[in-house]
Amino acid sequence: MSVLVAYATHSGATRTLAETIARTLGDEGFEVALLDVEEAPDPSAHDALVLGSAVRVESIEKSAVAWMDRHASAVAERPFAFFSCSGSASDPAKGGRQKATDVFLDRLDATPVAVKNFPGWVIMEKIPLHERVLLRSLRTPIGDFRDLPAVAAWAREIAPLLTA
Ligand SMILES: Cc1cc2nc3c(=O)[nH]c(=O)nc-3n(C[C@H](O)[C@H](O)[C@H](O)COP(=O)(O)O)c2cc1C
Repeated sequence: MSVLVAYATHSGATRTLAETIARTLGDEGFEVALLDVEEAPDPSAHDALVLGSAVRVESIEKSAVAWMDRHASAVAERPFAFFSCSGSASDPAKGGRQKATDVFLDRLDATPVAVKNFPGWVIMEKIPLHERVLLRSLRTPIGDFRDLPAVAAWAREIAPLLTA
């Protein structure tokens, strides 16, 4: 059983979540390919797909949207799980919801077997200078909010759904 774990990142946090998911699914017995969407991975070469994307300015990364548009029919034919990585997911008031995820999934033909909005990091040194001003205006909290054990637990939870 082969699963593609594809991700779109800007400052690296989503990649660390995707690595955790890939490692965990490997431990669960999957053959795993872990690739940035910029490397143009082909979902039709795999039995299942996990796609992760950073959130910027209330949107899923453009590279993830473009990749999904390119591979929509292949994605619709196999089990597919989606996760986002954002600053606001660390806010308990959001109740686990992420508007960018809802908008992204609404326009797809494929229905994911699982969806999760994980907190990432907001680390100024990892962000280009011109974006720091924008980020401050968004009032996104600063820090490393990742919970990798929770990410691994989600990967174990979705493993049986990816084989369905
Ligand atoms: C320019 C910029 C805009 C952002 N906009 C949002 C946003 O609208 N909502 C949010 O929850 N987080 C926002 N964030 C925080 C990112 O989602 C967070 O840093 C996440 O870890 C990014 O993932 P990445 O490190 O894989 O790129 C923004 C970050 C940057 C740099």
